[in-house]
Amino acid sequence: MPSATPLSRSWSAEVTKRLLAWFGANARDLPWRLHYTPYEVWVSEIMLQQTQMLRVVDYFKRFMSRFPTLQSLAQADLEAVLCAWEGLGYYQRAKNLHKTARLLLAEYGGQLPTDQEKLEKLPGIGHYTAGAIAAIAFEQPTVGVDANGLRVLARLFDCCEDVRSSSGKICIERYARALLPEQRARDFNQALMEFGALICGRKLLCADCPLQDLCLAHAHGTESQRPVQMSSSLRQLRYSTAGVIIDGKRRLLLCQRPKQGIWANLWTLPEFEMAKSDDPTRCFCSLFARQTGLKLYALDWQTQLQHSYTKWQIVLQVRAFFLVSCVLSKPFVWFARSDLAKLPLPSPHRTVLDRFLTSQVGKTTY
Ligand code: ADE
Repeated sequence: MPSATPLSRSWSAEVTKRLLAWFGANARDLPWRLHYTPYEVWVSEIMLQQTQMLRVVDYFKRFMSRFPTLQSLAQADLEAVLCAWEGLGYYQRAKNLHKTARLLLAEYGGQLPTDQEKLEKLPGIGHYTAGAIAAIAFEQPTVGVDANGLRVLARLFDCCEDVRSSSGKICIERYARALLPEQRARDFNQALMEFGALICGRKLLCADCPLQDLCLAHAHGTESQRPVQMSSSLRQLRYSTAGVIIDGKRRLLLCQRPKQGIWANLWTLPEFEMAKSDDPTRCFCSLFARQTGLKLYALDWQTQLQHSYTKWQIVLQVRAFFLVSCVLSKPFVWFARSDLAKLPLPSPHRTVLDRFLTSQVGKTTY
């Protein structure tokens, strides 16, 4: 029905009909699309925030076998939850999941609330996630538009507003509501997100698009300019130096991050920020000595990696050191090598440790 007047009721109805038909035929088999229990929907939506779908699948399955119910999650130690999350990043999500599970058990009879407003008040559940959970778990007539869905809507409606501005966000939500069918909120919300992931991506696949003749951006030739987004400033570089510190008992020194801020509560290698021109070994030794009063001996091993955190690109220089066995106070703790696998570490530091341990295979030093 290509002749429906754009933005008319019949145009919206046609868009929705085709989106749902496309989803029916093309939805990926995903582990959280089997039962749609509120607990599974909630965990999957939190995992999917800022993370690619395919990465989430294995984490989700493992998480569900370790914590099969909301009760089991609430009763688990935070450390175990962080461990199951290790490598997914944005660990605040895992902490909020745990906190919310406890809150739900204590105050909501172990059940997630069904409506968006109540869901939105829970730790770690923002407006979009609350909409997605309400629609997908409870078939509530509401919308939760992720970045993929947003791209679809911005193009379909040829939205020229900056979608990161508050008026742009309101606009996008209004478009989503205009397409929302009276029933099937679950399928509709997932269809929008899935369509953005598989067809209406950053790379345009208009030739394969079943909505092409209905798409206003396509009609206006503006599809590559949608969605309009404020130019995000280029990530700023920061430099830091970290140490793999071992002692004569083949132990390794880690420190626990504070409760707030980046990697809160996780275990990391000792690390210090430095200037680009600083020598990583000297800088690390002197800052470590300033903090602990202890002298390190540099070993012949080093590695470098980069990782990003919010707007920062962090260039991490890592060196290995020997430290005479001693008692250290918080935040430092010595660990035997066999303890390392159970500890929650942020992925860049886990990568560094793996590199170090691999380099030591067959050596007597560690
Ligand atoms: N992105 C976030 N949640 C999703 C879902 N349930 N289906 C498809 N993409 C998603």
